[in-house]
Amino acid sequence: MVKKSFKKTTKRPVRKTTKKSAGKKKTKTRVKTTKRKKAVKKVYKGLKTRFKVNPKKRIGRLPKLKKVRSRLAGSIKIRKIRNKDVIVILDFGSQYTQLIARRIRENKVFSKIVPYNITADQIREIKPKGIILSGGPLSVYDKKSPMPNREIFKLDIPILGICYGMQAIHHIFGGKVQSSKEREFGRSELFIDNNRDLFINLPSNLTCWMSHSDEIKSLPKGFIKLAHTLNASMAAFANRAKKIYGVQFHPEVVHTQRGTQILTNFMFQICGCLPRWTMDKFIKTTVEQIKEKVGKKKVVLGLSGGVDSSVAAVLLQKAIGKNLYCIFVDNGLLRNNEVLSVQKTFKSNFKMNMVTLNADKGFLTRLKGIEDPEEKRKIIGDEFVKVFLAKAKKIKNVNFLAQGTLYPDVIESISPTGGPSEVIKSHHNVGGLPKNLKLGLIEPFRELFKDEVRAIGKRLELPDAILKRQPFPGPGLAIRIIGEVTKERLEILRAADECVLDEIKKAGLYNDIWQSFAVLLPIKTVGVMGDQRTYENVIAIRCVNSVDGMTADWVPLDHELLGKISNRIINEVHGVNRVVYDISSKPPATIEWE
Ligand code: XMP
Repeated sequence: MVKKSFKKTTKRPVRKTTKKSAGKKKTKTRVKTTKRKKAVKKVYKGLKTRFKVNPKKRIGRLPKLKKVRSRLAGSIKIRKIRNKDVIVILDFGSQYTQLIARRIRENKVFSKIVPYNITADQIREIKPKGIILSGGPLSVYDKKSPMPNREIFKLDIPILGICYGMQAIHHIFGGKVQSSKEREFGRSELFIDNNRDLFINLPSNLTCWMSHSDEIKSLPKGFIKLAHTLNASMAAFANRAKKIYGVQFHPEVVHTQRGTQILTNFMFQICGCLPRWTMDKFIKTTVEQIKEKVGKKKVVLGLSGGVDSSVAAVLLQKAIGKNLYCIFVDNGLLRNNEVLSVQKTFKSNFKMNMVTLNADKGFLTRLKGIEDPEEKRKIIGDEFVKVFLAKAKKIKNVNFLAQGTLYPDVIESISPTGGPSEVIKSHHNVGGLPKNLKLGLIEPFRELFKDEVRAIGKRLELPDAILKRQPFPGPGLAIRIIGEVTKERLEILRAADECVLDEIKKAGLYNDIWQSFAVLLPIKTVGVMGDQRTYENVIAIRCVNSVDGMTADWVPLDHELLGKISNRIINEVHGVNRVVYDISSKPPATIEWE
């Protein structure tokens, strides 16, 4: 095809020449056309590498260099603004909304969660390649049932409704939804009736994950049935002319067989997305953006040794080098060896500008006599801000503050039932700095999930000890010491905590458990050691599994392992004569004891 169009350009001028001037013009034209030929070739090559596709597919036939250039210019402009395709997800309050977003990103397309009632104009501004309507807990017939803006169906952007999303589409297009006699929750057999686009490359039946009580009975005008289950005669439908699709089941959950294929069929076959959102690209563009934004100014960052701030620090260092100042606040509430290991990683290995503030005295003085958990949190947060800002002010030319804020903290959900995103947002965050700070904010991970930040950390060669670290709360050991926090009690807890972590690591369980730690209780109990009566402290061990910290279950640790941990604590930690194991899940308990 490319060759064909070269032929055209070379032939056309020759045909137009008169006999007289033919010889002269021919040579002139030949020179010109050879140049043109080369230039066109170069342009094609550029396009090919840029888009990693056959350029002809992207911009059609290219008969003239002029056209190629102008189209190429257009493409470059577009590419400058949009170096990634976007799928927007309208959040109707499903517990799986974030999972949909992650599945899309896992397939190298960027996804963005937006409120269900976003307007068509707002969507136009995002310029997505596709729209997904998430599931939700309500029925379309509930009084408060959330409905998408009708105008979004006129945007000519492909739409996929999942579960409630499908029923909302159905409702808007005038179909009838009925309360089903047979509710379908959990696994179900899906029979595919039409295996084009959405179900292409899939077997004719699959196991899928259903969660609905309403059932679609009749199809609205223009829609056809794509699949059914034994209980739902319309388990998937489509209006191909309008590029609107719906599935009653949840393709985003792992229990749906080949669910990811259904989502990628939507993204690639129907929306025409290209898989070009990669972590390497993210690092490259973010580094460029930070460089541009910061220039020769300086940035401060509060390093905690946790995943988010650590990866942010390394990314920023890559962008601005020594203009990044990391401040690590030793509040005296950290675990054994934590200060040294953070210093070793960032100062010695990464050669960062990092200062450690030994602020433990200030924290402990302010915590004296305080027993209330919330008061502890407030004091620790307040003291952190005070010492951090005092140090930051001493660094000349600081204009920016960098933070490792993650996407779940910034998703603006206004789902009617207060969807999961909203709950996450309200979560405590000690170390949150005041809003009236006269520093620009740099939050490179505002649009990323934690596993994506981990992937970036891996590429930036951060050690697993940091990337796979179990979560540790901002207020540190203070919220694991029930009652007053004192130096002595901190020492007891530190020693006990080390025994727990050490044994969990030795058993090879550290990376399989969400959190494992010790808690110091505010009671003393009687015991005997040797021939002596003792009256000493109780340590509780807490090991939980969780996906996001919002819900959790206690881990049924092997009895032998529990025995080992208990023996070690009682033998090694002075002041402890009893160890108990916490077997409560969240809810109703929380992960931390305070
Ligand atoms: P809870 O105790 O609420 O904890 O079930 C859920 C997750 O959050 C961590 N956590 C905190 N993190 N500041 C933090 O930065 C806090 O004040 C705080 N309180 C709890 C907890 O360790 C668990 O991972």
